[in-house]
Amino acid sequence: MFERLNDVTIFKYYTSRTGLEQDNGEGDLAKSRGPATIPSTYETEVMSLMKTLLRQLTTVAALCLACTALALAADAPDGAAIFKSKCSMCHGQDGKGYAAVKTPDFTDPKWQASITDQKIADTIKNGKQGTMMMPFGTQLKDAEIAALVKQIRSFGKK
Ligand code: HEC
Repeated sequence: MFERLNDVTIFKYYTSRTGLEQDNGEGDLAKSRGPATIPSTYETEVMSLMKTLLRQLTTVAALCLACTALALAADAPDGAAIFKSKCSMCHGQDGKGYAAVKTPDFTDPKWQASITDQKIADTIKNGKQGTMMMPFGTQLKDAEIAALVKQIRSFGKK
């Protein structure tokens, strides 16, 4: 009537309580018993806890993204502002240039097509020898020069 307590009965009791079991070496024990069953209240508790955590994580991640975007926006050089302060006296605020200074018309599609971004950046950095186009490599960072290239391209899109 009473089964003697031995390792096997303790193991059976343990696995029936936890739903966990070890492979008996033939690999079919787990299959025959099906997946471990976890009490449903426990399951819903864990799930709601995980959902709360996830929601909080998502909020934190969204905040981080917003901060990074702001920081980047603050750091990104303002090509239009730099052009206005350092270039517009010779190239005009509208980028059309001045015949008297012999500056090209940046709004001319033909001029836009005649030059690569790399060449524009090089010209800003090193200037054009023998012309009034002076080098800006010492006063402008690469990121600022890149912003100016974009600004000059934007004149062609109007
Ligand atoms: C002192 C006047 C002056 C200033 C300031 C100046 N430029 Fe120029 N820039 C010129 C002249 C003149 C030319 C035409 C050179 C030539 O004969 O090809 C020129 C040409 C250029 C070209 C065309 C180069 C090519 O190969 O067609 C670019 C691009 C340019 N400038 C960008 C800038 C930018 C950006 C700034 C401001 C950071 C600036 N320039 C400031 C006078 C100036």
